Amino acid sequence: MRRKAPAVDLTTRLGSVILPNPVLTASGTAGHGAELADFLDPAVLGAIVVKSLHAEPWAGNPTPRVHATPSGMVNSVGLQGPGVEAWLEHDLPVLAGTGARVVASIWGRTVEEFARAAELLADAPDVVVAVEVNASCPNLEDRRALFAHSVTATTEVVEAAEGARRPRWAKLSPNTPDLPDLAVAAIAAGAEVVTVANTVLGMVIDTETRRPLLGAGKGGLSGPAIRPVAVRAVFDTREALGAVPIIGVGGITSATDAVEFLLAGASAVQIGTAMFADPRAPARILTDLERWCDRRGVSQLEELIGAAHG
Ligand SMILES: Cc1cc2nc3c(=O)[nH]c(=O)nc-3n(C[C@H](O)[C@H](O)[C@H](O)COP(=O)(O)O)c2cc1C
Repeated sequence: MRRKAPAVDLTTRLGSVILPNPVLTASGTAGHGAELADFLDPAVLGAIVVKSLHAEPWAGNPTPRVHATPSGMVNSVGLQGPGVEAWLEHDLPVLAGTGARVVASIWGRTVEEFARAAELLADAPDVVVAVEVNASCPNLEDRRALFAHSVTATTEVVEAAEGARRPRWAKLSPNTPDLPDLAVAAIAAGAEVVTVANTVLGMVIDTETRRPLLGAGKGGLSGPAIRPVAVRAVFDTREALGAVPIIGVGGITSATDAVEFLLAGASAVQIGTAMFADPRAPARILTDLERWCDRRGVSQLEELIGAAHG
């Protein structure tokens, strides 16, 4: 006998963007997106968030750039990329050809560089449904901090991204106790959605050479090791923002991990490090999420969003 298809409505609303389901890729972990097509159909996912793009081509950090750690990895890729114009010309058409919905992530070292990257996206085709502003990158004008560690700098980079002429999502950092205030600032500055969160600051030291292991010295920790940090960050952000949409990201490897983020207040999730072990992870998580809901009589995703808040 044929199994009945699950009757679950996974549609999710992220500000003015409506996606058929809440499973997205996390920026930087699936290259520029089209590489994924060898493993899964990118069009089945909610959206593909591509690696953060600078206005100009960017070489990234010295190697080694990644290192496995208990239940995760540290990376200091350093935002290597072809620049927005080359991405629009060479990478986007291939990704768009898969039928995927695309989110362009942008970064800069100054507010001006964010503005420039955004402007270069102004005429991008409609398949680019939103721009994710990676505020969790180093601020050249304030050496001590990431943009996302300052209300003023977060406000400025979100405002600077208006030139992209499409919905703005602000990707924030978990490395500050002020995260809820920064989320409020990002929304006030025009973001429709906050993505919570980027990697946790970390480093690994080689005990034989007695030197930092990553080429850049320090890096960002990701994977299951950071999941409870990210769940708490989403929970706190939901308390601060109420019903404003949040995308949860950090250490998700299964549908139940994704459900944890939804219950904490996320309207969607992004899958990153899990793809290094299993490039099909986002598609598997999506299928399992549908089954998880079906078995528990959850007919609409909305029933789960923020439910842990009582
Ligand atoms: C190798 C690597 C590269 C990354 N590059 C970016 C990037 O370009 N832009 C960005 O916003 N986040 C970047 N991230 C952070 C991820 O998008 C994600 O926020 C973080 O890894 C936590 O999720 P995860 O544990 O599922 O990987 C990167 C993470 C990794 C592991």
